Amino acid sequence: MDFQSARRVVLQLLGTTAPADVPALLNWMRTTRDFDEFTHDNNDIMLKNIADDLRKCLPVEAVLCSEHLALQEIRQQPEPTVHVDAFLYDEDFIDTLCEEGKMSRNYCTVCGSHRTAPLGFISHSFSLTELKFIYHHVLPDLSGKVLVDVGSRLGTVLYGGYLYSSAVQLCGVELNGQFCQLQEMIIKKYQFGDRIKVLHADICTQSSLLQTADVIVMNNVFEYFLTEAQQASAWNYIIHNVRKQGSLLVTVPSLQESLMGLQINVQLSSWVEEIPLSLDVYSQRDIDQEALQQIHLYKVL
Ligand SMILES: C[S@@+](CC[C@H](N)C(=O)[O-])C[C@H]1O[C@@H](n2cnc3c(N)ncnc32)[C@H](O)[C@@H]1O
Repeated sequence: MDFQSARRVVLQLLGTTAPADVPALLNWMRTTRDFDEFTHDNNDIMLKNIADDLRKCLPVEAVLCSEHLALQEIRQQPEPTVHVDAFLYDEDFIDTLCEEGKMSRNYCTVCGSHRTAPLGFISHSFSLTELKFIYHHVLPDLSGKVLVDVGSRLGTVLYGGYLYSSAVQLCGVELNGQFCQLQEMIIKKYQFGDRIKVLHADICTQSSLLQTADVIVMNNVFEYFLTEAQQASAWNYIIHNVRKQGSLLVTVPSLQESLMGLQINVQLSSWVEEIPLSLDVYSQRDIDQEALQQIHLYKVL
């Protein structure tokens, strides 16, 4: 059925609905999430277009020369590791790059020989699958809510939130000015400015934002970018300011893992309660469950 015929059928249906029920039906059509499955495809395509745009502005490894600590951390991993941004490069894309000789999944264990071992991959962004999991299955309806992404980098959490949630405001805070410029470019091109805002700032200067946010996302935010002393100080700042009762924290990895070995003066159990997540929705599908298992949800007490 083409658009004009489908439109006629919808109008006919409204015409045959009991008049007293029309307002309820129209309200349901305006607010329901039952149509999500029909609109998600468009949103996925839009996110893939954004990834295309960003890839053109970044080197393949998507780490900037100014990110000294992040580059050093990658070099210091126990096994040879490369940064492959999961938002920019999905599995199929990596396969294509490997076939073209532009990327490799393996490294040579003995220089000059054919003996190879798998390279470790690190991503500094959520993949499309992780974003959809977070907005469709981890978080509740975000109508009227304010979400803050601590360390927004390429802006993936913000664009995902714009397309997959009803959050009224999505605010990214990013330390690196070049990444803020990239986010501004995308926000302008895709006209996301009515709900997305990016601040070029250290999160440790944003107490009121943290105090008022309803959802705070923290994806490996400090681990690769700050020294241990700086990480401890940043986490103490977060713990001190994220106090709004009932607000939600989405973290990768778990808070226990992020705080392990750092000088933190708080008992987690007196600050937050973990909300268990179910991966059942994905059990039948060909999806990287390991990445999803790293996502944790907490409610502030
Ligand atoms: C792993 S990336 C997360 C990217 C993004 N949130 C996502 O999930 O796709 C972490 C980002 O946090 C930024 N960052 C680290 N410390 C920060 C701080 N104190 N304030 C603001 N941003 C910070 C880094 O520059 C980096 O771009």
